[in-house]
Amino acid sequence: MARTPLIAGNWKMYKTEREAEEYIQALLPRVSAVDGVDVALCVPFTDLRAMVDSARGSRVEIYAQNMHHEPEGPYTGEISAPMLTELDVRGVVLGHSERRAMFGETDKALALKVPAALEAGMVPILCVGETEEERDSGETDRKLRQQVRDDLAGVSLERLADVVIAYEPIWAIGTGRVASPEQAQESIAFIRALVGDRERQAAESVRVLYGGSVKPDNAAELLALPDVDGALVGGASLQADSFAAIVASAPR
Ligand code: 13P
Repeated sequence: MARTPLIAGNWKMYKTEREAEEYIQALLPRVSAVDGVDVALCVPFTDLRAMVDSARGSRVEIYAQNMHHEPEGPYTGEISAPMLTELDVRGVVLGHSERRAMFGETDKALALKVPAALEAGMVPILCVGETEEERDSGETDRKLRQQVRDDLAGVSLERLADVVIAYEPIWAIGTGRVASPEQAQESIAFIRALVGDRERQAAESVRVLYGGSVKPDNAAELLALPDVDGALVGGASLQADSFAAIVASAPR
């Protein structure tokens, strides 16, 4: 089954609303002619409303970078799914390694967040990936198996294919050390097989992205790999030119 590639930019904690406006005005004309690729920008909460308004009617969808699993409650500083969907936010990054490492994001919380995002009608991008030590000691598959199993535990078989999984080896994030095509293909095929262990057909349609030092000059090779269905782009998504170049290199 043909899977539509998804190129998602993760801005992390970059861009005020004013900077975001300048960016989107530069980006939209550069991606308007590109067909057959889904494009998303995962932006800070404070940029969401302006970006949704500015991107309306374009091919760019606006995603958030985190979400609480409860619809409302006494959770100071948190943002819920209904708060996002009312703004027409279409998806949300969940379990990014920066949130796991620095802000205590747990597999237990993700097992609640992923189904909550789906039920709210958003696309969850679940991030998984191993540390350098885990790769060096042959623990990559074990880590990926544990994260996929635990973080998707609350997702029903019918909804499994609606999740997007981003394979982001932690040693490749922000380091310029992109995974080799062989490493990316092998781990992403393994993740797809893990989904297939739960539901054979979902493996055919679930989209698995690669993330970690994706740049305009390495994107085409990664995106051409048989199991790689797109990219989650950090640093190179912060300039409209380089993000548009990555979008343009997706096969379609
Ligand atoms: P870089 O593209 O800057 O390595 O970041 C990857 C990432 O963490 C995307 O979520």
